[in-house]
Amino acid sequence: MEGGGQRRDPAAPPGRPQGECLQLLLRRSQEAKNWAYCPYSRFPVGAALLTASGEIFSGCNVENACYSLGVCAERTAIQKAISEGHTSFRAMAIASDMGENFIAPCGACRQVMREFGTDWDIYLTKADGAYIVKRLEELLPFSFGPEHLKEV
Ligand code: THU
Repeated sequence: MEGGGQRRDPAAPPGRPQGECLQLLLRRSQEAKNWAYCPYSRFPVGAALLTASGEIFSGCNVENACYSLGVCAERTAIQKAISEGHTSFRAMAIASDMGENFIAPCGACRQVMREFGTDWDIYLTKADGAYIVKRLEELLPFSFGPEHLKEV
């Protein structure tokens, strides 16, 4: 689904944020982008994570002079939420300065998101606020998760 306005979608799956809740999530991802520490890539990213209880945890990318230690915005947000006791998530919005393309999470972040379920929503945005929404299952099909460890 594509969007950018404030209309409610009657066909939206239950649990998907709508209206003001969705607008706040999108805005929080843009605000978090302003805190990005990215002196090496100069590619700021922000993420905002909506918990099942309705709280929002935001994060930005945090780079390091030892390049490989940099952390993406999505994982910053997830680690903040987990470390404050939240493990059930409804949606994440991701923001960057890209105008032509929707920001898409890297493979490592998709796997970290998947740890917490496959049936939640990821809002991929452009700099002008336009977005598309994807189920995590769509972003990481045929995935490996914690339940598989119990099969052996
Ligand atoms: N980055 C994110 O934080 N999230 C994404 O979805 C894509 C990439 C960061 C990692 C690095 O700090 C910079 O953007 C350039 O790759």
